[in-house]
Amino acid sequence: MDFLNEIVIPANDTHLQVLKFVLFISLALFLPYMGATIGGTIFSVYFNRKGKNNRRTIYYRFACDILDKLIFSKGVGLGLGVVPVLSATFVYMQFMYETKTAVVGLMIVSTILYYLGITLVYKYKSNFDIEEVVDSLKSVIESDKHEGQIPEEVKEYEAGLKQVKSTFGGWGLVCLIVASLFFVGGTTLISNPSAWEHASPIIYLFSIPVLINFLFFICASLAFTGIAVLFYFFGWQGGIKDRSDNYKAYVKKFAGSLAFYSTIILPVLFLASFLTYHTHAFSSSLFIIGALALGTILLTANFLYALIRNSEIKYSGAMFYLMIATFSLMSLKDVSAINAALKEQFHKVHILAEEYEKKHNKVAVVDTGINGEEIFNAKCSACHKFDQKLVGPPYKETVPKYNDNVKKLAAFIYNPVKVNPDYPAMPNQGLKPKEAEAVAQYIITHLKEVK
Ligand code: HEC
Repeated sequence: MDFLNEIVIPANDTHLQVLKFVLFISLALFLPYMGATIGGTIFSVYFNRKGKNNRRTIYYRFACDILDKLIFSKGVGLGLGVVPVLSATFVYMQFMYETKTAVVGLMIVSTILYYLGITLVYKYKSNFDIEEVVDSLKSVIESDKHEGQIPEEVKEYEAGLKQVKSTFGGWGLVCLIVASLFFVGGTTLISNPSAWEHASPIIYLFSIPVLINFLFFICASLAFTGIAVLFYFFGWQGGIKDRSDNYKAYVKKFAGSLAFYSTIILPVLFLASFLTYHTHAFSSSLFIIGALALGTILLTANFLYALIRNSEIKYSGAMFYLMIATFSLMSLKDVSAINAALKEQFHKVHILAEEYEKKHNKVAVVDTGINGEEIFNAKCSACHKFDQKLVGPPYKETVPKYNDNVKKLAAFIYNPVKVNPDYPAMPNQGLKPKEAEAVAQYIITHLKEVK
């Protein structure tokens, strides 16, 4: 992917620090949102199937509610789901500057698939609303005094709708899951330099480290989905109101067990994912972050246990925020591992950045805050062109002898002296020293561009 090196420039040290921060923020936004989206979609698709034949079952209601509560609008989906992966991709691109690995390729595929997945899932979601409209239409016809028969077209339309809806839901889910595998693959690969030369990125996706991290991500997503359901259905703003007790009890039991069982598997997968790290990735901060994350996971499990035993729902808020904290710690852990594993790579990028700066900044750009181009247009262009003789000589003949020395050229412009006998003397333009410098800078830079 050599073209990538064309669109990014090597990052210098401060720039690299900023990029690490951007990466952290992107992951911390992305992981919980995508976790809830994937979990919500899995269960919506599942319950939609289960309640397919009767729209008034709690299954069907739940299939609809879970998406409503967990994934908000499409704008949020793109903002919290696709934009962060895109910026993580861009950060990886800069980290991997001039290094041949599949990291960026995996990330790009992942971004595209997430975009596709989110789009399909929102289409799926909006079909619930259409179904509802068709449904109320049907009940109007049914309750019609004249014992209205449901017209064939409505029945057909409804059957088609159902079909399309499950297609959207199913494929959306597949896209999101495959996208996650690519995403986890890219993030695992970047923190493992010894695998950079790995023969095939696709085979790498099925290597032990990637699979463990992927399982961890899915398991964390399920745990978070369960907790988010508890929070949004029962905690947030007093919870849902217009649903039967039967429904509430079912949702509480389902979400509670889902969250509990996924949360108790999490520490095992978490430790396993630690073991898959390359030795280069370890650092003391990685262990501290890991210990904290383990702490938040265990605390969450503890609250969930209370919930399962006593049907105690009041901690749903605490659990929700603990899970958000866990995801932030996971993001920090990834950044820290990448930071340690890429020490050599960063050094290489640092050297490239210095070379790049030397090459491109031969002309030290002095930013005086004064616009040299404007001064040129106002005060010089009447007598000068870059490549043609007017009253004064063309710059392309006279300026090169200043050898990019802005100060020396500015000195002439500030106080012109007689130079070439073929021309009259240049009248003093009455510029201030700073203005002379700005216009000198402009002429030198622009001359390079037109050449
Ligand atoms: C009224 C016409 C006129 C204006 C306006 C004018 N110049 Fe000149 N400029 C000349 C002439 C004539 C020469 C040739 C002078 C000589 O060779 O002694 C010259 C020469 C120069 C040179 C070449 C110096 C060298 O070392 O050979 C530079 C650079 C230059 N002008 C820059 C500027 C800039 C910058 C401005 C605007 C701030 C400007 N000029 C405005 C007429 C003008």
